[in-house]
Amino acid sequence: MFIVIDGPDGSGKSTLSEALAGQLRAQGHSVLHTFEPTDTTETSREIRRYLHCGDSVDPRVLCDLFTKDRAEHVSSVILPHLAQGGVVICDRYKYSAFVYQSSQGVDRDYVIRSNAAFPVPDVTFVLLPSSADVLMRRIARRGKAEEAFERSGFLTRAIEVYRHLPDYFPNEKFVFLDADLPTEQNLSLIEPHLS
Ligand code: TYD
Repeated sequence: MFIVIDGPDGSGKSTLSEALAGQLRAQGHSVLHTFEPTDTTETSREIRRYLHCGDSVDPRVLCDLFTKDRAEHVSSVILPHLAQGGVVICDRYKYSAFVYQSSQGVDRDYVIRSNAAFPVPDVTFVLLPSSADVLMRRIARRGKAEEAFERSGFLTRAIEVYRHLPDYFPNEKFVFLDADLPTEQNLSLIEPHLS
């Protein structure tokens, strides 16, 4: 089973996906918990240099780098684990590219076409907060260096695009979760969608 957890920066994706991975492992599943951008490819290092340096990079170039990193991730990590009958939980996927790169001005159809060959998840959980303020507070608490997209105006736009994902990917399954709820509560909302 291929599960994606997506949502804006600070929405609590990693906490929720770690908890879900732990729960599924405890039930006896072979779980691979992974994320995008990866930290294993040369492309992912290039992406992170751009995200941290603050220099403007052509959004379409960045879009292509995310696609390239994803292609390697899909072929060398995601598909092999699915082929063995395991569960893959991936933090962020092509939906992040759709939301972030289209919010940066890349043509939506271009992002969709670039990602069209990748496997469709069985279900994607989208964590959305009541407002970008919640995200900015969590990002500040994390105390890590700020990244390119961690600004209130950008995240407000991103939240709006996340809400409309089902319009752009009509044949894919999305379940929206409230990022303001405790992890335990979201875990119980996830459960019925896994069988
Ligand atoms: P993030 O998950 O925050 O990684 P880290 O915890 O290592 O900083 O991802 C970094 C940023 O990349 C995040 O702001 C979202 C953005 N992103 C895109 O713009 N497009 C994509 O396709 C993906 C996967 C991520």
